[in-house]
Amino acid sequence: MFSKKLKNNTKNQFGSDQLQPELMPKHIAIIMDGNGRWAQKRHLPRVAGHKQGMEVVETITKAASDLGVKVLTLYAFSTENWKRPAGEVNYLMDLPVTFFNRFVPELIKHDVRVNVIGDTSKLPQKTQTAVNNAIEQTKDCQGMVLNFALNYGSRTEIVGAVQTIAQDVATGKVDPAQIDEQLFSSYLMTDSLQPNGDPDLLIRTSGEQRLSNFLLWQIAYSELVFTDVYWPDYQPQNLVDDILAFQQRDRRFGGIQVKEGENKNK
Ligand code: FPP
Repeated sequence: MFSKKLKNNTKNQFGSDQLQPELMPKHIAIIMDGNGRWAQKRHLPRVAGHKQGMEVVETITKAASDLGVKVLTLYAFSTENWKRPAGEVNYLMDLPVTFFNRFVPELIKHDVRVNVIGDTSKLPQKTQTAVNNAIEQTKDCQGMVLNFALNYGSRTEIVGAVQTIAQDVATGKVDPAQIDEQLFSSYLMTDSLQPNGDPDLLIRTSGEQRLSNFLLWQIAYSELVFTDVYWPDYQPQNLVDDILAFQQRDRRFGGIQVKEGENKNK
């Protein structure tokens, strides 16, 4: 389990000794963007960017786990990504198969548990099998949760939650007066990540500054960090830098910061 001390290998490797362990984000969510542009810059096919992106998933997972992050959510395939050319979609559907085949033993070594949000029933059978096997093989791991968003869309998630709540009201399981933020959250796909269902820090790589239908409810109070680095170039050092940026933010959750000895009613 994560103690107040960062694990030594990460501390020494990435100069992360500037990080304040007590301010470590518990849940980091990443929009891994820029794979296509990374490949284009090198005159390579777009899928070469996704391949390198998969390698980076491995390094960043290990680094986040070493840093004591509790949940790492990675946006791997959105409900909108089906609009891409069939060849690219097929490649993206093969990536989890390659990744888990190769990396599950490492995940277990790092005590990392795999979780998935999104409608996996629409994924090809081979992808579903790879995902389900990884979930099953890592189910007893107690460390970080590596949460892949696969065929995930926040609006679909919210509409699904509303439908289920409506059904539960119709059958008398839920009284409309009971519906509050906490109950609503419990109908979202991130409920399985509680008490860390909401990201503290959302990172988007590649210089784009938008949310692209990712965790819209859950990021109500997240700190947002947009970095110009393309995902295939993203290094543990970039993660440390983005966490440092997070640690310099003044998180007030809508309140005001009260300095010691000061009266907030003043
Ligand atoms: C966005 O970049 C990236 C994606 C749609 C796919 C992200 C997937 C990975 C990084 C690999 C995932 C690995 C596993 C193990 C599931 P883009 O293609 O939109 O880049 P661009 O904006 O430069 O075109």
